[in-house]
Formats: sequence, C-alpha cells, structure tokens
Amino acid sequence: MHKNKPNKVLDTKLDAVSKSLKQSIKNLDSYTHVRGESLYVDDVNIRQGTFHAVVFDSPKAHGKIKSIDYSKAEALEGVQRIFTYKDVPGENEIGGIIPDEPLFAENDVHFWGMPIALIVAESEFIARKARGLIDIEIEELPVITTAKEAKAKGSFINAPRSFSLGDTEKAFADCEYIFEGETFSNGQEHLYIETQGAYAEPLENGNIKVTSSTQGPTAVQKTIAKVLGIAMHKIEVDVTRLGGGFGGKEDQATPWAVMAALAAHHLNQSVKLILNRHDDLRMTGKRHPYESTYKIGLSKDLKIIAYQTEFLQNSGAAADLSPAIAERTLFHATNSYYIPNVTTKVLSCKTNLPPNTAFRGFGGPQGMFVIESAIAKAAHEIGVPTRTIQEANLLDENDTFSYGQIAKKVEAKNTWHSAKNIFNIEALEQAVEAFNKNNTSFKKGIAFMPITFGISFTNTPMNHARALVHIYLDGSVGISTAAVEMGQGVNTKMMQIAADVFSIPIEKIKIETTNTTRVANTSPSAASSTADLNGKATLMACNALVERLKIVASEDLKASVKDITLKEESVYINNKKSALTWTELVSKAMLKRVALTENAHYATPEIHFDKTKEKGHPFAYHVYGTAITTTTIDCMRGTYEFESVKIVHDYGKSMSEGIDLGQVEGALIQGIGWMTMEEIAYNKDGKLLSNALSTYKVPDIFSVPKTVEVIPVETEGNDMAILKSKAVGEPPLMYGIGAYFALQNAIKAFNPNYDMQFNAPMTPEKVLMSLYKKA
Ligand code: MTE
Ligand code: HPA
Ligand code: MOS
Repeated sequence: MHKNKPNKVLDTKLDAVSKSLKQSIKNLDSYTHVRGESLYVDDVNIRQGTFHAVVFDSPKAHGKIKSIDYSKAEALEGVQRIFTYKDVPGENEIGGIIPDEPLFAENDVHFWGMPIALIVAESEFIARKARGLIDIEIEELPVITTAKEAKAKGSFINAPRSFSLGDTEKAFADCEYIFEGETFSNGQEHLYIETQGAYAEPLENGNIKVTSSTQGPTAVQKTIAKVLGIAMHKIEVDVTRLGGGFGGKEDQATPWAVMAALAAHHLNQSVKLILNRHDDLRMTGKRHPYESTYKIGLSKDLKIIAYQTEFLQNSGAAADLSPAIAERTLFHATNSYYIPNVTTKVLSCKTNLPPNTAFRGFGGPQGMFVIESAIAKAAHEIGVPTRTIQEANLLDENDTFSYGQIAKKVEAKNTWHSAKNIFNIEALEQAVEAFNKNNTSFKKGIAFMPITFGISFTNTPMNHARALVHIYLDGSVGISTAAVEMGQGVNTKMMQIAADVFSIPIEKIKIETTNTTRVANTSPSAASSTADLNGKATLMACNALVERLKIVASEDLKASVKDITLKEESVYINNKKSALTWTELVSKAMLKRVALTENAHYATPEIHFDKTKEKGHPFAYHVYGTAITTTTIDCMRGTYEFESVKIVHDYGKSMSEGIDLGQVEGALIQGIGWMTMEEIAYNKDGKLLSNALSTYKVPDIFSVPKTVEVIPVETEGNDMAILKSKAVGEPPLMYGIGAYFALQNAIKAFNPNYDMQFNAPMTPEKVLMSLYKKA
C-alpha cells in the first residue's frame, strides 16, 4: 500500500536504540494476535459460579422516572439480583472532572441509553431475557440533541473558555478581506473491536480485583472506591491489553467496571459484565459534534491577520472529559498557522445525548476543521488556490501560539516544502488539471493538510508516570509501567528501551500487565504521551540499575566504573569484552545483596499553564506534518475514491519505524472516515439511529486510499520525546481532514458555482447534491 523511499534520517547515527532493533522491531503482540492467543477481558479465567451482568438503560432521552417494575425480571429463574442506585454504599457519582454524572439514574434520565440498573444472573442470556421483562414508565421532558438548541436554552456544562492573542477587533478593521461562515463536524463512533467490559472478583477481607478494558486503571480504581465507599488500596485493577480504545476507554470504561465491582461486593461472587455491540453503541459517548462560526480577516498579500471563532461543543448529558476536550479545541484552533490576532471561544453545551468523550485528537481535529474551512472559504471568494493562503501563513520559529507558548523547533514549513518537493506538486497538480479538462463525468481534486499538534496532557498535573523494573536472578527482566497497550505498540517501545539500556535480547524481557498495585496513581494512557511518560520512567529505572551493576562489575573485574559498559549480554572494559556475562553479573550482584529492583518517577519538565490568564507553556513539544490528498469523484453518482495520500511526517527520530508507520496509516484512515463517511445519527427524540454496522459505515479495505506514502522529515528530534522519537498516536488523524477539502475541490471542478458548505462528513449523498446545487 505504501512505498518506502530511502531517506537520510534512517542512516544517521542513532541516539539510543540500536539500529537493527529500531528497524526490525515488530509489535510484540503480532505473534499472539495472529494466532488468536492474545488475552482480553472476555478471555480471563472465570471463577466457578461467576455471575453475568447486563445493564438496563433508559428507553427515553429525557424524563422523570414515574415507576419501574422489576418483579417479573426478578422472578425469572437464574436471576440473582438487580442493582440500582439504592444499592450504592458510597456515592452514586462517576464524573471525573465535574461531579454531574450518576452511575445509575435516580429519579430522572438524561439520555437514551443512560444506565438505570444492573441485572445479575447465572448467564448473560438470562440477564438479557430479564431485561426485557422490566416495565418502566417515564414522563417525557423536552429533548435537546444539538449544541445550538442547547445554547439557545442556556444549557451548558460549565463556563465558556476563551483564548486571545493581539487585538482581534482592531485587526479586523485593517483587513482587506473578511469572511464569515458556519461549520459543522459530526461525532464519530470509536468502534474499538473489543467492546467495553470488566470482570470483578471478590478476594478476602473485602478486597476486589477488577480486570478492565480501560485506558485509565487508576480512574477505575478511584471511582470504584468512591462508589463503594471503601479505600483505594482494597481495589486492584489489572489490564492486559485493549482491543482498541481510541479515547473511548479513557473515561468511559469506568462505569462497567464499577458496576461489576458493586455486584461482586454485594454478592461475594465474581461478576462479568461485557457490553454487546448494540448496548455499547447505544450507551457510550462518541467524538463531540461541533457547530462553529468563524470570521477570518486577511491582508492584501493574503496574510491572515485576524481570526475569531465560537465553537459549540455538543457535550452530551454530563461533563465526562468535555471541558478538557473543549480546551484542546482552543489550543489547536489555528492549526499550523501563525495568526497575530486571535479570539477563540468554546461553549460546552449540555444536550440529551450520551456524554461525548475523548476520541483521537481530543477536540483538536474539530478546531482544525474550522480554520481549514475558513481558509478554503477565503480562497474560494478571493479566487486563489487554498494552498496559497495556507502556505503564506505557516508557523515559523519563535511565533507565538494564542495560548502564549513560543513555537520552537518548528517543522511546519519544512514538512510543507518537503512535501511539495518530494511529491512533485507541480506534476501532481498538472495531472489533476489535465484530467479535469478531459473528463466530464469524473473530476479530481487535490488538497494540502498541514498539522501541528501539541504533545502533553493539557492539564499539566497529569504529565507523570512511573516504572517498576525487576531484574530476576537469572538475568531476565520484568517491567511494569502505567502504559496500557491498546494496539499502539507502547509495550514494544518499553521493551526496546530496556533491551537497549541493558543490552540484552528482547526474549529476556517481559512487559507485565498494567496493574494499580504495581504502579499506582497514574494518568490514563492518552494524549499520545504514553510512550514519552512511561518510556522516560523506564529509561530512568533501567539506567539506575545499570549504574548499580557497573559498580558490581568494577569490583569484580578490578576496573574503573567509568570504563565499564554493558554490551550484548557481556561486560566490556574500555570497549573490550571481559569474561563476565550479564547473567553472571546479575548473580554476583545478588550475592553482594545489591537491589535488582528499581522504581522511577518521571514528570515532564518545563510545562505549565495558567488558566486564569489562559497563557502558558502547556506542551512539551509539537508534532508537525503535511499531507497531500488526491481524490476522484464520480459526478453521476457522487461516489468517490482517494487515489493517494502523500505525507511528510515529523517522527523526530522514530524508535520503532514499523509501529509508527502503522500509527500514521491507522490514524489517517480514521480521520478520513470521520470526514467522509462515518455518519452518527440521532433522531429528534435522542434515539441513536446509526446503531449497528449496517447503518454506520466505517472505512474498509475498499475505501482506503489506493496509496499512502509516508516520508519522515529530517529533524534533530526533541529531547522531551522518548529517545527523540516523537509521539505519533493522534497527530496523523488530522491528515484525514485533507480528504474533505480534496472532495470540495473536485466538486468545484464540476460545479464552479458551488456554494461551499462545511458540513462533515462529506458523504456521497452530500457530494451528489453539491455537484448539482446552484449557488
Ligand atoms: N492505536 C491503536 N491501534 N489503538 C488505539 O486504541 N488509540 C489512539 C492512538 N493510537 C489507539 C491507537 C489514541 S486516542 C491515543 S491517545 C494514543 O494511541 C495512545 O497511545 P500513545 O500515548 O502510546 O500514543
Ligand atoms: N489529551 C487526552 N486526554 C486528556 C487530556 C489531553 O490533553 N487531558 C486530560 N485527558
Ligand atoms: Mo487519546 S483521545 O488521548 O485516548
């Protein structure tokens, strides 16, 4: 699918990870994945007599609960017990940022799919059958499904946030061109292959062990403790891996684990709760839809000198992570451009949809779609190519972001111009033009999409992690961190670090499950920062162990510590191999009673942010890149395909090239899906219509671009990134935004009078309408 061009970055001296390892490393999980041996929550060995649970949820989006009759369900043979808010010994509250979300509805319901009760039975089949026997009467209240309606009714999650730079009002007065408009970007279903689920097992003395499919084991532990009214040390949360999370399990894996734990606590028996796909689609939140307005002002020479937006975020019925996501929308509202006068505002609008949540990009993509729409609109009205305006405004070294951070080691222009040169943009554009001249019923479009994405949790206190490293007496190694493997390859990266520092083969290293008893008080695996935070902690722990072992070696070999290195499972003195092997060194350290375990804590230095001023330095660094997308539309049918996406991406110095390429490709396709085909639909009563894969279309092998080329840009890397290998999980999703604008350009080639609409996803139906719509 992609060509690998030779490039210089890969040949330069490598900083830490040995060249062979970084180029040849495969995701550790690929072997067990392919053999079907990888373990997920549904695969845990369950205790004899384990009960199975199913959630009873609201069949209306908003209303007062008049009555619920559980008697028929309770009478069904095999039903153990039905739990409601009345069975919560602690607090019936699971909100992470704002305490506004009950675990179980009490007197009223706020979204279709809101959990009301947990049915526990001998089998899932019986629990499901019992669910159908519950009678509920709800007095319906008015339903809000859109952010605009919520704004009109003054229904908000919290106070609005606003960032500003320069003097926007004054700057607009000096503009040659001013354009205003509206945009909409829809939500997106995470569609992790493994649905939400947990298994709770009661242990002695009221302790509970929970196996959860969560990105945030500590959040699960903390919330269980709160709901059960017991201390956190009584709860152990364990995660082997997730069958995908994509942000959907940062916060929203928690309620299911809490429910399973609550039932286990009361019944003193293990309880398994796994949502089936329908339940998962209906009950969980998605990417936030945004309705936004913009005003953009340009000078005569096409410099954007003023930009103003109002983002209406459809937060759903409770806060969940919405405030943090809204904040990241503001951080990325100007994408890769320097704009001296900016005023951005975001309102988190409370509606009667399931609480929307984290999704790859975390509000950033929604912000970037708006600035790209504003630029496309300006270009269309002025009559210049969009890329001319994009190029004229790219971020430069020492430019200031609207949040006060000074841009350093900027690669915006480098990736842009590299993309133009490497992919021969003139030839590409000429080919598109020639094609469009010669074809009437097919048209091609091409679009550039630059990205700039900030790396760190925007909430500074969350940027820390720990690693616990044991060297066993036979020289093998076990590593525990807070990192949750969800397919992104973070375990492989942790293993590479240890293999490199100890200079031992990866077969001697085991990455342990993520467990709150071994690594406590952690942030979720999110914000693309998992490898940076946990990798730096692992590096620190491994380095400390090596320092200790070197002292043992120096005593044994009568050599100076500074002359000793570890290489290929042997001790070297002044680069000469000694007779002492790694395994012997470890045994000698044991005999000398030297600690072979180390725990390290890493907290990102330098970052800070003052919310009272909305200024600071929130990001450790930024990731840059540029994508060029080419599409062909069938002007009779409105269908389209993407010929190619050509990307120059800033990996820094990738430590695991195959894994990172996989992240770029996966994120790109997910972004294209969001922009072009994935259409979440609720009816006006707040019922999810796109509630199955027959009504919700995600990219498949036939709809992905025919070629995806990813060229690493040459950079020095960044010391804030693990081994200079930059975070890669989320940024490439935003290359997918280019697909929207490539489609628009193809439509314009067919229908020059097309009145540009910025309403994503650009489904074939919308393309068809646009082709024949008069301005
Ligand atoms: N890749 C796979 N295969 N599965 C996932 O669930 N989640 C994405 C991204 N890539 C995800 C993924 C999201 S939303 C984030 S924040 C990062 O991975 C998290 O992992 P990282 O911090 O190690 O990049
Ligand atoms: N990204 C992802 N998850 C988060 C963040 C963030 O910036 N802040 C809090 N949770
Ligand atoms: Mo990713 S949206 O930060 O889990």
